[in-house]
Amino acid sequence: MIKIAPSILSADFARLGEEVSDVVACGADYIHFDVMDGMFVQNISFGIPVLASLRRATDAFIDVHLMVERPVRYVKRFCDTGADLVNCHVESDTVENTLEALSVIRSCGKKTGVTLSPGTKAEAVLPFIDQVDLVLVMTVYPGLGGQSLIASQLDVVREVRKIIDDRNPCCELEVDGGITLETAPAAIAAGANVLVSGSTVFHAKDRKSIIASLSAAGC
Ligand code: DX5
Ligand code: ZN
Repeated sequence: MIKIAPSILSADFARLGEEVSDVVACGADYIHFDVMDGMFVQNISFGIPVLASLRRATDAFIDVHLMVERPVRYVKRFCDTGADLVNCHVESDTVENTLEALSVIRSCGKKTGVTLSPGTKAEAVLPFIDQVDLVLVMTVYPGLGGQSLIASQLDVVREVRKIIDDRNPCCELEVDGGITLETAPAAIAAGANVLVSGSTVFHAKDRKSIIASLSAAGC
């Protein structure tokens, strides 16, 4: 089954609770929460206080994508604030510190993930593959919504799919960036089972129909 994770980066922040309730009612599986620190990526988005408000507003599964330097400093606070899954970029710290971050997330009873940016090889997941519930392959450079999918990242998705099938078949494979009705079939064919989608879902007139079409894009 294909899962859809709308990224709230494209939501109307003045009405965030309603926006999230709406996409959940329209069939969203996860809510994708993009945290940017102005260091790991150029932009600054939102963080723990916004997650605290959102947690009070919804029971939905919140998938936190940390685009921050040295996320090990923050993972416990995100878990304690209500994240259901916390995802760290492999480029944002050493292997040792990333393993430590995953261990903290797990000890909080939350799901774990690692993310690969464009330019990072699929093998970069190998030190973590036994410790994660999800691998996220970025299909754009992180830091901004509304970009076009980088087609060569689908090769990375295929390679990560092989690693997952071989080493941790229950692990989910998520893609993030430039997912539209046109690009979703190729992402699914490459092996993704969770599609993050910001602008395609939040800017749609009929969100229910878009979410249904995205999740059926592999059929
Ligand atoms: C980019 C974020 C994405 C972004 C996706 O750094 O990680 O989650 O919101 O936006 P779209 O789907 O518009 O490309
Ligand atoms: Zn994201």
